[in-house]
Amino acid sequence: MNRMPSIVFAILCMAFLIYSGSIYIYGASASEGTEFKAEAGNGKLVWQKYNCQGCHQMYGLGGYLGPDLTNVSSKWQNDTILEAVIRSGNERMPSYHGMDRKNMKALLVFLREMDASGTADPRNFRREMNGMIYRNENRN
Ligand code: HEC
Repeated sequence: MNRMPSIVFAILCMAFLIYSGSIYIYGASASEGTEFKAEAGNGKLVWQKYNCQGCHQMYGLGGYLGPDLTNVSSKWQNDTILEAVIRSGNERMPSYHGMDRKNMKALLVFLREMDASGTADPRNFRREMNGMIYRNENRN
């Protein structure tokens, strides 16, 4: 009887277990510092509720009518101006003047946290063997 298939199967099972184990052990440390404030979590819900991602990207993902907003907070320096930009809109961007203060505040925290999490320029990304993506620390 040919035992080759069962040997290959056993090797694949081993590889799967070792890989899963290493993701489980090392993956936890890789997520350090990427935790969001609760307020930013609410802001993300606002972002989704108002469908900002239909026209805007975060780290290159989203709609392409408007610009990538990953680092829009640092572009505008202060939240008062950024809020005004969002509330007024323009001919291509809808105005959100009706958004209540609570939602707007959460949204601004979300945008600031996203900004702090990295730079949207993919040239600054480094891909590791395990499939994780890191930011190159020396370029920012
Ligand atoms: C229908 C598409 C659309 C939706 C939905 C939309 N935007 Fe926009 N937004 C745009 C476009 C297009 C621009 C670029 C306007 C221009 O430069 O003339 C823009 C510009 C912006 C800017 C200024 C960007 C910069 O680089 O200064 C901000 C901030 C912004 N949008 C935030 C938001 C937020 C927050 C939401 C959700 C609450 C949202 N947008 C929803 C289309 C959209």
